[in-house]
Amino acid sequence: MRARIIGTGSYAPPFVLTNDDLAKQLETSDEWIFSRTGIHERRIAAASEQTSDMAAKASRAALDMAGVRPDELDLIVIGTFSGDMKMPSCAAFVQAKLGAHAPAFDVAAACAGSLYALSIADKFIRSGGARRVLVVGVEMMSRLLDWQDRGSCVLFGDAAGAMVVAPEPDGERGILTTHMATDGRLAHLLTVPGGGSIHSATHESVDARLHFVKMAGREVYKFAVRSLIETMETSLGATGLTADDVTHVVPHQANVRIIDAVLERLKVPRSKAILNMDRYGNTSSASVPMALDEAVRSGRIVANDIVAMMAIGSGMAWGSAILRW
Ligand code: ACO
Repeated sequence: MRARIIGTGSYAPPFVLTNDDLAKQLETSDEWIFSRTGIHERRIAAASEQTSDMAAKASRAALDMAGVRPDELDLIVIGTFSGDMKMPSCAAFVQAKLGAHAPAFDVAAACAGSLYALSIADKFIRSGGARRVLVVGVEMMSRLLDWQDRGSCVLFGDAAGAMVVAPEPDGERGILTTHMATDGRLAHLLTVPGGGSIHSATHESVDARLHFVKMAGREVYKFAVRSLIETMETSLGATGLTADDVTHVVPHQANVRIIDAVLERLKVPRSKAILNMDRYGNTSSASVPMALDEAVRSGRIVANDIVAMMAIGSGMAWGSAILRW
């Protein structure tokens, strides 16, 4: 039994923070940020808005497209590391906001979270363990960023993306393969060190700004290129398809230079990549489902297109999925 994405949705808060706005607070410039990352602006949630609010909005749009009611869901899986609280899961808040009853849990795989969650949905559906699965990638980056650290805060934004996955009993369409990988030896490259068992919350840990994102940007960059090439080659190999067969690549929107390096190695023209980081920055686990949703709603992705999705993030954790839309 193959699984197919039957609905997509996304949400980004209305407030736009441009590179020029950032340059008023930090020693940076639109030229520096755009030339290194492809990012012009990002969205920032209002103080009254929570991670689960963004996730619920994206989910409702995906459920509408799918024609599925919240009470028909069998499972809710959310990729996030920036939920409403440390406990309970963001998925529990989202379940209640949607009025759903399905078991709901979070997956912690940072920027790869939505592809990990999609992989879980695919396995549940193939095994017959669920028929309607809501997959969400959502991140409230703005509340985890150190706004004094120009090396990281300029990269990220807030958003949510959602997908509804269901069985595709006959026919060729649906998820052809998913791939997940982790290398925990590189965990130190991208962290939020405060608030866990190593640095539980104290005045000292807060003063030391340990509750914010810390990133070794250059090392992350190099590893991201290598691992995205590896996961795409693994997924293509599993399907028997070649890079030429791919109609669209939906990459994690971290940095356009990372994407260009990967596409060049795979010999895929940039015109096949769905890119929106210029408007949203890196929204971590939201980035792939949000870009997918934009491309589906604009009519760029149509039935039977071969779509390759790939993401990498803290862990380091990375993954990919290839599907026939
Ligand atoms: N504005 C101006 N100057 C800056 C800024 C900024 N926002 N940030 C850093 N600089 C300065 C640095 O201080 C440094 O100055 P120095 O040479 O005087 O010390 C100089 O720019 C170069 O810094 P580098 O970090 O070497 O710059 P680099 O060319 O590597 O670009 C960047 C930095 C954009 C972070 C890049 O390494 C990158 O994109 N890495 C990938 C990170 C990423 O995508 N993370 C996302 C999370 S994981 C994921 O989603 C893949």
